[in-house]
Amino acid sequence: MPRTALPSVLAPHVERLGGIDYVVVLGSGLKALEQLDEAVDVRYADIEGWSGATVAGHAGVLTLGRLAGSSSRVMVARGRHHVYEGHGVDEATRIARLAADLGVRGLILTNAAGGLVGSWTPGDLMLLSDHINLTGLPACQPHEVPWHRQVYDPGLRVRFLAAALRAGIPLHEGVYVGLLGPSYETEAEIRFLQAVGGQAVGMSTVLESVAAAVRGVPVAGISCITNIAVRPEDLAGTSHQEVVDVAGAASRRLDGLLHLVMED
Ligand code: HPA
Repeated sequence: MPRTALPSVLAPHVERLGGIDYVVVLGSGLKALEQLDEAVDVRYADIEGWSGATVAGHAGVLTLGRLAGSSSRVMVARGRHHVYEGHGVDEATRIARLAADLGVRGLILTNAAGGLVGSWTPGDLMLLSDHINLTGLPACQPHEVPWHRQVYDPGLRVRFLAAALRAGIPLHEGVYVGLLGPSYETEAEIRFLQAVGGQAVGMSTVLESVAAAVRGVPVAGISCITNIAVRPEDLAGTSHQEVVDVAGAASRRLDGLLHLVMED
């Protein structure tokens, strides 16, 4: 059960389920976990102190329920608050901190990202092995600085890889580079991101994952590669709508993976 007081709109739903095992954040255009048992939707805008999601492809709704055919209780955050929308770090990490307050077994952060590997294909999924935070923003307070450097939980990573193998779902592993955005990268920036060791680039996740990890929450990250950022033709054409469309098409595989990992 929760460690600290929950927003009063959420508390009765969490209590009814007897707690929450997993929090999943769905990134731009990603649709998954739409068939939860005993599901209830709460709009971000109706939660005291929260603001509604504003970016296209982000519904701004929390769904709480049970994973069908399993005892796992899940909270799905359909959309996130980005710093590039003008939100502060506190707002951008709110769901991660809520996951910590709930004492969950795992926080699973998904995002839409540009691929930095030329041989990958739009719609591919990548498990985050690590990240590089190039937002220039602090994800935690000075007194919270972690003594270790492993943000993404090794146990959860193994479970994702095993689930992908079992279900025959191709899953890359790699390093996600988090930038502020909202503009996509220049050609020179793409070359820089490849040189520093990134396989995917996006505008979220790095602050949330650190905020949760320093609070002791096991974190996993999955990128849906919506465009290959290294191909000149993709660089010219990437739009937010294209990102949302490709993410929608990849959602079925993501949904399958999430079910397999959380039903354990
Ligand atoms: N760059 C940054 N963020 C992104 C991209 C990209 O190419 N695609 C989806 N989110």
